[in-house]
Amino acid sequence: MSNSFELYALSEEHQAIREAVRDVCDAKVAPHAGDVDELAEFPKASYDALKASDFHAPHIPEQYGGAGADALATVIVIEEVARACASTSLIPAVNKLGSLPLLLSGSDEVKQRYLPPVASGDSMFSYCLSEPEAGSDAASMKTRAVRDGDEYVLNGVKRWITNAGVSDFYTVFAVTDPNARSKGISAFVVEKADEGVSFGAPEKKLGIKGSPTREVYFDNVRIPASRMIGAEGTGFATAMQTLDHTRVTIAAQALGIAQGALDYALGYVQERKQFGKAIAEFQGLQFMLADMGMKIEAARQLTYAAAAKSERDDKDLTYFGAAAKCFASDTAMAVTTDAVQLLGGYGYTHDYPVERMMRDAKITQIYEGTNQVQRIVMARQLLKGIG
Ligand code: CAA
Repeated sequence: MSNSFELYALSEEHQAIREAVRDVCDAKVAPHAGDVDELAEFPKASYDALKASDFHAPHIPEQYGGAGADALATVIVIEEVARACASTSLIPAVNKLGSLPLLLSGSDEVKQRYLPPVASGDSMFSYCLSEPEAGSDAASMKTRAVRDGDEYVLNGVKRWITNAGVSDFYTVFAVTDPNARSKGISAFVVEKADEGVSFGAPEKKLGIKGSPTREVYFDNVRIPASRMIGAEGTGFATAMQTLDHTRVTIAAQALGIAQGALDYALGYVQERKQFGKAIAEFQGLQFMLADMGMKIEAARQLTYAAAAKSERDDKDLTYFGAAAKCFASDTAMAVTTDAVQLLGGYGYTHDYPVERMMRDAKITQIYEGTNQVQRIVMARQLLKGIG
């Protein structure tokens, strides 16, 4: 019988990946995190550092020139990058979000054409699902794709598009049959260089300021029909399947933000002296630290379990992806808020990183489906007897 305790631990390979990413992030990502936030600039130097070590899109399979990281290794990469800089962690996370529809449902032709430039780091991929009037209710989208001979013509607006303008490639979900609601949605690859594609001004956000969020406009954009991902009408199912996997990566991002905040607070409370001793000696603060560590570890176990389910494409992935994203993001918000509290007045200033972490944590409760939507997803699965 195999040793189940060994099986339950991280493999040596996964531990080695964590150490390698942490080394790169401590040296070349963390030093830029404050400026990236302050200046709201895309973290180019951090991207180059990730690219040099193949951590910018680790999930791309080797056959397309990628590192071929499994779902757990990808989660560890994103967790470690987020521990240093949440904005930068959206590079590997959104590269996976944008390109996963191709890996799940795309033809050999689209995979061969679009995945190698992402694997090499020459291009990035974004995911265009949400619209101004279609956020949680994604199936009510209005962007149209109309067939014209061997082409489709796209018109519409997508909103909240992460890394818009920086990415060269976009997975775009559009209505091909307005009478069929979710069954009338199809997915396409659109290039930034396609005529008729343009971008709105960058949103002014509370956090993740180094990751541009913009609207994307499609004005009579003509693309070859071969750029459809999967069959006509299967786009919504592909969008949802993709999110089942990538909600696990948002959980990883949240986990990393929370760990970064706890690590900083642990150092601070041992240095800071009040009433003649380090504030770490006060039991009230020790209880806070214990709760923070406990919540993070629970989030980590759920996230890694969800990653294993993502790798195997288990039938309860939908439940686990939603649960991990929801729990880890609520944990990140609680832990970063407590980290600010532990630093007191200092924690509330830009001179210390924990207020940035608190602002960055908030979005993890919102994007890739609000935590209220995650609870809808979980409840529906439980009522079907899955989960
Ligand atoms: N896997 C495969 N197919 C699925 C699926 C899944 N997990 N979930 C749904 N489907 C398919 C099914 O075929 C279903 O049809 P059936 O009746 O045949 O089963 C069809 O989709 C419609 O499903 P629902 O009836 O459940 O759809 P709904 O309209 O009730 O919506 C919802 C369900 C869960 C609320 C969904 O709309 C949702 O997840 N909303 C949130 C959207 C979201 O997460 N947006 C994030 C945008 S991306 C982002 O934030 C990225 C970023 O830039 C960082």
